[in-house]
Amino acid sequence: MTINPKNMAPRSCLIGAEWVGADSGETIEVRDPATDELVASVPGCAAAETRRAIDAAAKALPKWRSRTAQERTRPLRRLYELMMRDRERLALLMTREQGKPLAEARGEIAYAASFIEWAAEEAKRIYGLTVPASSPDKRILVLRQPVGVCAAITPWNFPAAMITRKLGPALAAGCAMVVKPAEQTPLSALALGELALEAEFPPGVVNIVTGDAKAIAGAFFDDPRVRKLSFTGSTEVGRSLMKSASDHVMRLSLELGGHAPLIVFDDADLEAAAAGAVANKMRNMGQTCICANRILVQRGVYDEFVGLMQRRMERMKVGAGSEQGVEVGPLIDDDAVEKVKAHVADALDKGATVRTGGGLVKPHKGLANRFYAPTIIEGITSDMRIWREETFGPVAPVRAFDTEDEAIKLANDSIYGLAAYFYTRDASRLMRVAEALEYGVIGANDAAPSTAQAPFGGVKQSGVGREGGRWGVEEYTELKFVSWGGVSK
Ligand code: SIN
Repeated sequence: MTINPKNMAPRSCLIGAEWVGADSGETIEVRDPATDELVASVPGCAAAETRRAIDAAAKALPKWRSRTAQERTRPLRRLYELMMRDRERLALLMTREQGKPLAEARGEIAYAASFIEWAAEEAKRIYGLTVPASSPDKRILVLRQPVGVCAAITPWNFPAAMITRKLGPALAAGCAMVVKPAEQTPLSALALGELALEAEFPPGVVNIVTGDAKAIAGAFFDDPRVRKLSFTGSTEVGRSLMKSASDHVMRLSLELGGHAPLIVFDDADLEAAAAGAVANKMRNMGQTCICANRILVQRGVYDEFVGLMQRRMERMKVGAGSEQGVEVGPLIDDDAVEKVKAHVADALDKGATVRTGGGLVKPHKGLANRFYAPTIIEGITSDMRIWREETFGPVAPVRAFDTEDEAIKLANDSIYGLAAYFYTRDASRLMRVAEALEYGVIGANDAAPSTAQAPFGGVKQSGVGREGGRWGVEEYTELKFVSWGGVSK
């Protein structure tokens, strides 16, 4: 399916109220990962354009932050409505630039819009506090104020939702933002920028700059007016951003890598567990930070459970995301394919075996070589790369365990701590295991926990800060303590 060019996103960057190209005239090509076709070219901006976007945000900030919460709510609510109005167009655009199946893209637009809707509501509930003072002559007030100009660097795996999860709360709190979307998927971001103007956010409150990641991030870190950076991406890049942020002691929210375990105990509802494990593993072709990457199954139910998973995975239709009924699209690019292949090869070298899948498939002529079959690998050991590193592909490594203690030890055997899942029917085990897992997000009999109202984020090397719910909004506020003296007559 092709997209009507009239429905495409803008191909320029949004700085203040202007749509602009790169000063250098450079452009970045956006290609459809399913076919390699050129979808569009967008500006290859660098530091100078980013500085102008920061200028625009700094200029817009005083008026925006002094609006009442009610007034900030209105364009947020409108943006939510516009996203839902344009859901189909935005979903088609996303599938084209990112590759995910259309049904998933539609789901992501609704998920992305839900962060804006939640932020619109939460804007009215950003409360301060009065604290009893120890002197009769004093009053203690705790104010919550917007952080100021904020920057966001967002990933290609969720081209819309990872923007709105940052933008919504930032705007609700009274901040202005400059967004730098991933080079592979800038079109969804630019389409959101266009809707933000239609929603009547004042010029400069939302700015979108596409281009060179290093130059744009460098401009953020060089400018003390940028008070906070929110980043979703790899732990490796997150570490380097943390170092750069130290120059101006910039506030950071980092949603980094994950390497989620999914534990199936022998008292679990195995059908529900297999359905959850496959849906979770195969979401976005395994390219999410919360995909189950280490599936641990209690020995007594191992064969039955893996058989159930296998049947579900073998039924999945692989193809271009825009084709009817496709559930597994292409990986984002050739590097992603190489990484998946390398992880599988390493596991097989070290003694693992393929239960199903295990290589590239060609759904039909004219498609790129980026379609990796839904795969189950058994005989996993702790020395394998697939056990230690995020694969970011449709590969489910499965390992047997005997006891609850062993399962928890294996699950916690990671530098990552973003999401973990487990299935059990035993209520006391449910609480015990949820408490013992060293992860920020726990799915207990639930493999799809992400939602706008809950705090999403990791422990250990999976990041700092939380996105979603009131916690996501608090990240864009500073606490100010006012000690008010001379109150007694
Ligand atoms: C991610 O993969 O970074 C986000 C996944 C989600 O929000 O569910």
